[in-house]
Amino acid sequence: MEVRLQKYLADCGIASRRKAEELIQAGKVSVNGVVVTELGTKIDDKLDSVFYNGNKVLNKEKPVYIMLHKPEGFVTTAKDQFDRPTVIDLIKGVNERVVPVGRLDYDTSGLLLLTNDGDLTYKLTHPKHQVKKVYLAKLFGTPDIGCINKFKWGVTVDGRKTEPAKLEVLEDLGKYSVCRITITEGRNRQVRKMCDAIKHPVATLKRVATGELELGDLPKGKFRILTEKEVKYLKSL
Ligand code: URA
Repeated sequence: MEVRLQKYLADCGIASRRKAEELIQAGKVSVNGVVVTELGTKIDDKLDSVFYNGNKVLNKEKPVYIMLHKPEGFVTTAKDQFDRPTVIDLIKGVNERVVPVGRLDYDTSGLLLLTNDGDLTYKLTHPKHQVKKVYLAKLFGTPDIGCINKFKWGVTVDGRKTEPAKLEVLEDLGKYSVCRITITEGRNRQVRKMCDAIKHPVATLKRVATGELELGDLPKGKFRILTEKEVKYLKSL
């Protein structure tokens, strides 16, 4: 994106915009090896190399934290090998390059966080610090107390036992049931595999909460910027 040099310097935390103008006029700033003293100069914030006092000015984007209500039929990657729509296609009007924190399957809907804060992504997806994730699932049939206990003790998935999980039957619809499932790990297709293991496969799956963050009534396909309180909470985990 093209930006004025003084704004770029200010955005990178070098100085206020006014002070940055003074630095430019004083000949302290160069772009691609050439000293620039003209204030109107525009640069490409991705391609041009800006130096101040001989040091490269790093383009530190401001951190952005987003909650998306992912619809089914979107992949949780920036680019799909089969050219299917991606969750990034839904994040319109955000210039920062955000990436999904963890993933939801193509056929899962619900709460997905995206950010350009690499430290937070690392922390939230690290197997050691897994936060609780809550799903609403429509399952084939209705799990009985034996199934509920299996979740409590951990279910063997891909030859390895899961951490204790919670399965609550909210509604028995006969052929199906509506269940709330809480897990603390993030293994590949974990909820689906756990439900397969108790012989109540998933018909539909939606994530409704990550830790204390709730999807609430955010419409499907829409996103919102997290509040300061929510960001603080995530960083405190
Ligand atoms: N578990 C699954 O099986 N799928 C998801 O998308 C998330 C958790």
